[in-house]
Amino acid sequence: MVELVRVENLKKYFPLEKTFIEKLLTRERKWVKAVDGISFTIRRGEIFTIAGETGCGKTTTGRLILRLIEPTSGKIFYNDVDITALKKAELRDFRRRVQPIFQDPYASLNPRMKIGDAIKHPLEIHGVASGREAREEALKMLAEVGLTPPEKFYNLFPKDLSGGQRQRVAIARAMILKPEFIVADEPVSMIDVSLKASILRLMLKFKEELGLTYLFITHELAIAKYISDRIAVMYLGKIVEMGPARRILTDPLHPYTRALLSAVPVPNPEKKGRKIPIKGEVPVSPINVPSGCRFNPRCPLASEKCLKEEPLLIEVEKDHFVACHLVS
Ligand SMILES: Nc1ncnc2c1ncn2[C@@H]1O[C@H](COP(=O)(O)OP(=O)(O)OP(=O)(O)O)[C@@H](O)[C@H]1O
Ligand SMILES: [Mg+2]
Repeated sequence: MVELVRVENLKKYFPLEKTFIEKLLTRERKWVKAVDGISFTIRRGEIFTIAGETGCGKTTTGRLILRLIEPTSGKIFYNDVDITALKKAELRDFRRRVQPIFQDPYASLNPRMKIGDAIKHPLEIHGVASGREAREEALKMLAEVGLTPPEKFYNLFPKDLSGGQRQRVAIARAMILKPEFIVADEPVSMIDVSLKASILRLMLKFKEELGLTYLFITHELAIAKYISDRIAVMYLGKIVEMGPARRILTDPLHPYTRALLSAVPVPNPEKKGRKIPIKGEVPVSPINVPSGCRFNPRCPLASEKCLKEEPLLIEVEKDHFVACHLVS
């Protein structure tokens, strides 16, 4: 089977905390529509990227797929099995095959655990190896992620390492179980700019070695460009454009994608003319989603129809989907 993950009309609404006065005045509940009906598939062996500005629902999507949170509605299939309905033993298996890499390696590492022990920990939890064998595996992983000599690094603590080295530890810990699928949520956004490429290369090396599939989450299109096979662009909880990376990055069709791209420096000055400004500094919040096309308040091209009718995500050419009245 080609597809590894299939997401169908996935929604996650968080209840909005009301102030004391609001509680007295109204019984109405308000919701943050963090993810508001998205569908996509991730194919085996590809790097599928979700891109978009802060607050558009990228992390929530990743957490749903990792089964760290339950969806409000919709379905997520992994290997054709609905992961929202996994039994305990199946969930254990899923937790072995699917590993996360998060933005902040410091927050995801126990400050009191030696990094070598942190790396071997998953082996022990999953009963794959223990004792000397687990220690040997951890030393091997340290060398593989470039923390050498491994014997020295084994006994250090997270505080002894730089941000880039800590992310190498997080990668080693994710890879030691030889997973199939990685959800990497902004894995290099806190890393010094001079080290970003080396961390990405390390992730690509493991992809080749283990035949991994990635869900890669980023707000930086310049980084998406470097590694993605396909890209989905999200805006306020919805996918507005999705397709092969090259297509999305060189010839985007949705005004939002085009605006996002104009924020990325273009090496070819001839393409300067395509710049589209986005109106408004901060995206409209996912609490009060605009009617019609949710991008309409910021879209320089919005028409009457865009204010009233929500555009569907339509395949405009093979494998390239756009949700915009001006395109479809
Ligand atoms: N546990 C939660 N409770 C309430 N609201 C939440 C919760 N988690 C996320 N949200 C809200 O859902 C929306 C989407 O958040 P999410 O973290 O998925 O965005 P993001 O695209 O990952 O943003 P960033 O680029 O800043 O990481 C935001 O408005 C956020 O405030
Ligand atoms: Mg996020």
